[in-house]
Amino acid sequence: MNEIPTILAIESSCDDTSVAILRADNVLSNVTATQVDHAKYGGVIPELASRKHLINILPVVMEALEKAKIDIQDIDAVAFTVGPGLMGSLIVGVSFAKSLALSLNIPIITVNHMQAHILAHFIDNPKPDFPFLCMTVSGGHTQIVQVNSYLEMEILGQTIDDAAGEAFDKTGKLLNLGYPAGPLIDKEAKKGQPIFQFAKPRIENLDMSFSGLKTSILYFLKKQIKENPNFITENLADICCSVQTSIVNILMDKLAKAVKQTGIKHIGIAGGVSANSQLRDSFLALGKTNNWNTYIPSFEYCTDNAAMIGIVAYHKYLAQDFADWDVAPQTRLKVNQV
Ligand code: KG4
Ligand code: ZN
Repeated sequence: MNEIPTILAIESSCDDTSVAILRADNVLSNVTATQVDHAKYGGVIPELASRKHLINILPVVMEALEKAKIDIQDIDAVAFTVGPGLMGSLIVGVSFAKSLALSLNIPIITVNHMQAHILAHFIDNPKPDFPFLCMTVSGGHTQIVQVNSYLEMEILGQTIDDAAGEAFDKTGKLLNLGYPAGPLIDKEAKKGQPIFQFAKPRIENLDMSFSGLKTSILYFLKKQIKENPNFITENLADICCSVQTSIVNILMDKLAKAVKQTGIKHIGIAGGVSANSQLRDSFLALGKTNNWNTYIPSFEYCTDNAAMIGIVAYHKYLAQDFADWDVAPQTRLKVNQV
């Protein structure tokens, strides 16, 4: 075993083909090919995503090696996202990783995508202390996780229906914005005020819900458009700001509740939606008021990337936790599985 391993990590769970090279927990390169082809369909088309991964994966691997100035023979292990994600997309990464590792005669390491979003906090400094709480908010997941060590975590609460990213993306569809709508709503909201109110979920524990909000926005827009067909174009900034404020408030209320319940004061946010400027500002402000130690990964490590896969892989490498060759993709995986 190499004490300072060089790991090639692959992320292909959804619509980003990403490859990173790490030496121990040091990211030497992190190259991502984002598929823009889905925008015109208003969401990720699984069949299209897997075909694009096939086209992208080899050039992205070559670029990552070149940027890291690493010879392929110097790789000690190949890591890949095993799930959760889209089956076709995962298959490309898993098959490529296995073939590469077999040809180099080196081990493979499976990585849980949700664990990786959380360990993105360990790429840059400052790094959180254990235990810490992490709110993981992405296009597919919304969870509050207690992270006890690098590879030991438990879900304290999660969405019972849509993910926070889905709430952004589905609202974007209603507003005829592009996909993914999160960044577009974020940008538009900066010019508006939160003057419209939407239904709030009533859930007592740490679980969350966003489908009621989506319905509430839909009926609100229908009613307003009946009175004024130009309602959306004339009020886009205020609508975006109001929707974003509702989503951020739901998330921050639950996070504050989780902190109160656990007494843990090291708190992070992760996942694609943690790139949202209002969420970041509200989180930091809440942390300041309540004396939390707050952590947000840098922007490039919030959305899907292979560097975060490499960090999990490094800790699994140290634990000698290698996968068998017959390992298969798993579309559904909880954060504490694998
Ligand atoms: O983590 P991620 O890249 O992929 C998944 O694992 O799902 O997250 C993608 C999600 C999308 O729903 C996208 O709209 C959202 O993250 N997102 C944002 C922002 N940037 C990305 N949502 C709100 N504001 C943003 N700035
Ligand atoms: Zn993700």
